Amino acid sequence: MNTKPEIEYMRKLKHQATLGGGEKKIETQHARGKMTARERIEALLDRGSFREIDMFVTHRTTEFGMDQHKILSDSVVTGWGTIGGRAVYIFSQDFTVFGGSLGEVHSEKICKIMDLAMKNGAPVIGLNDSGGARIQEGVVSLGAYADIFLKNSLASGVIPQLSVIMGPCAGGAVYSPALTDFIFMVKKTSHMFITGPDVVKAVTHQDVTFEELGGAEVHSSKSGVCHVMAEDEAECMEQVQQFFSYLPSNNMEDPPHVETGDDPQRQDERLDSIVPKEANKPYDMKEVILSVVDNGEFFEIHEQYAGNIIVGFARLDGYTVGVVANQPSVLAGVLDIKASIKGARFVRFCDCFNIPLVVFEDVPGFLPGVDQEHGGIIIHGAKLLYAFCEATVPKVTIITRKAYGGAYDVMNSKHIRGDYNAAWPAAEIAVMGAEGAVNIIFRKEIAAAPDPDAKRQELIKEYKEKFANPYGAAARGYLDDVIEPSQTRPRLIEALRMLRNKRDVNPPKKHSNMPL
Ligand code: HXC
Repeated sequence: MNTKPEIEYMRKLKHQATLGGGEKKIETQHARGKMTARERIEALLDRGSFREIDMFVTHRTTEFGMDQHKILSDSVVTGWGTIGGRAVYIFSQDFTVFGGSLGEVHSEKICKIMDLAMKNGAPVIGLNDSGGARIQEGVVSLGAYADIFLKNSLASGVIPQLSVIMGPCAGGAVYSPALTDFIFMVKKTSHMFITGPDVVKAVTHQDVTFEELGGAEVHSSKSGVCHVMAEDEAECMEQVQQFFSYLPSNNMEDPPHVETGDDPQRQDERLDSIVPKEANKPYDMKEVILSVVDNGEFFEIHEQYAGNIIVGFARLDGYTVGVVANQPSVLAGVLDIKASIKGARFVRFCDCFNIPLVVFEDVPGFLPGVDQEHGGIIIHGAKLLYAFCEATVPKVTIITRKAYGGAYDVMNSKHIRGDYNAAWPAAEIAVMGAEGAVNIIFRKEIAAAPDPDAKRQELIKEYKEKFANPYGAAARGYLDDVIEPSQTRPRLIEALRMLRNKRDVNPPKKHSNMPL
């Protein structure tokens, strides 16, 4: 059968568009261990689900001979598809076309996708690989970025927005990913910075490589800009797919329920002995989390950053939960500036998107020190407190051992609307640890005693008997129950079932003024 010429012409144009900047540029992209923009979309979305739009768009610039150099689709591929059968809108910057740089029409294509995502209540995923503002378009490209920033801000808390960095991301361009909910990066091939190594050298005389300045490892461990790091692009796509499965499509929906096959009544005897007798001995809170959640599956966020607090997604009884846990094996699980910010950001995301919060608490307090005080621990610690206070999703807490000082209040205590708060029997809930407390309140008695050390030990013993247990808090209803560690999973699942229809509201206001 003869194909009509107009259909052939259309096919030719579409084929031309799929070649982006051409075979040579595609080869260079591959040689760097990078997929092309369309290959990435194919790898991420359900097979055959991608529908591209705006393939025939070309730029309108005439400066610097650009009118002689137009490429179909320009430097970004946009459209929609599904992941695990659920709708998603996507844009993927094409580095083979003008270095993926962003000008007027590139921005228009992204904005169109974002408008559709907002109207239809579906997440947006951006695959970033770009030389930044298109230099030939001057201020137009700066305005084009700002158009996206505005849409990112307005979409925040309405639909989940994920940024995947798969190449350069420099200058003001980093602020679109920064305005989204989560940033994924790939080791070695993705970089984010405000100014590159050359500008750093010129201004500060520091020698620094791309990788040292803004690579995935630096942003995962030092700055906290990156939430999830991958070894390569293929692994990154798998991570995004897995991550996506925990999220609702928008703020009006609950996260999807998944049949995990894990028995809700399952108990784990190992938990009865996981906490060491000695209060200062560490144990791994991740073991507790993995034991309790469905099939031991935990999607950790910020794994390499502020390890003294653990945050991530898991399922209980097939329902998504956001886990926030102190980690006694890193800095004794203390709350410092980084941990507070990490925890607060995660709590707020969960609250935006109807994800119940499950807190495992073993915290000796806030980190003392000049650096922390001068760094603003007061204001940063308040972020975590504020985030838990304002959250209206179901909130449950298990105190596994220590809950001392202000940190007791902060970690989703009853007083700030914890819905179900329970402790393990060896929990210690007090203003501070026994030794510190005794040294303060019995300073004179200890000094006057014939054997001060013996006196101190006697008072410490007395203090521990009084306060180093959960029953003082339970007697006042600050704890709803004291439970056997092995039964943590069934108790949490029962509590979350009872809270499934929870409705709680904050007073009407334009927006809150959280301590930034
Ligand atoms: C136009 C650009 C471009 C840009 C790269 N290209 N960046 N074209 N505008 N911003 C083009 C190059 O001319 C080249 O075209 C092709 O893309 C590939 O670039 P190369 O330099 O050959 O690639 P590579 O060696 O891999 O280096 C990639 C790079 C480098 C590190 C991204 O190109 C670079 O430093 N670009 C400029 C980055 C930058 O400073 N951007 C502005 C940031 S400020 P040909 O035709 O030769 O293949 C910013 C402000 C945003 O973005 C403000 C928002 C408010």
